[in-house]
Amino acid sequence: MNTSIFMDIHTHILPEVDDGASTMEVTRKMLLQAKEQGIQTIIATPHYGTGKREKNPLQLKEVLEKVQKEADELSADIKLYLGNELYYREAILEAVVRGEALTLAESRYVLIEFSVGVKYNTLYQGLREFVLAGYAPILAHVERYQCLMEDEELIQEIRELGVYIQMNADSLLGSFLNKRTAQHRRLIKNRLIHFIATDCHNNDTRAPEMQKAYQIVEKLTDSQYAKELFLDNPGKIIENKYL
Ligand SMILES: [Fe+2]
Repeated sequence: MNTSIFMDIHTHILPEVDDGASTMEVTRKMLLQAKEQGIQTIIATPHYGTGKREKNPLQLKEVLEKVQKEADELSADIKLYLGNELYYREAILEAVVRGEALTLAESRYVLIEFSVGVKYNTLYQGLREFVLAGYAPILAHVERYQCLMEDEELIQEIRELGVYIQMNADSLLGSFLNKRTAQHRRLIKNRLIHFIATDCHNNDTRAPEMQKAYQIVEKLTDSQYAKELFLDNPGKIIENKYL
């Protein structure tokens, strides 16, 4: 049974726009899963900058409207917003400024990912460009970057720069004997994370699931911090307010 309501700020739930949902049928199944999980607010964040099957903002808006209609049939409570997951490269900031790439739900927040093996200096400078231009960058799935996992103090450094930190929900699952899982849980314990999101891509291997991760965060910290990561902080994005 649902006891909590969540917001998911990183999803590939739109059909046929990236490597996420392959059809509207898959999207529908993902919406149903989201509903069962208590996820009521969803920001669709198709990849931008990876050079694959990309649609422009107008086309994405059309797809989003269709998906909202599907959601309305399943539940009166699910609301979708649009954004992009920006793959960092030079000139990506200009694409955002020009409106070719999207911020999250028309806010000042942008979701940015880097290559897994990115050098810390590139990551830092890339995020800094966005901060200096007045955006609020959110680093997507922090746990993926080798440079940060090897030196967790660097996470604190980019936080101080004005960057927000997102972790994927499924990175907290699994045995605590698993070194990676243990490290991810430690980041939560140290309260270095601002957002937990699903980064869902389909309805089976990468489904929109948040409940288990929520319980883990609550256990590791407290219910107030858990609520911040899964609901309160995402809500600030929708309202375009500072965290
Ligand atoms: Fe993603």
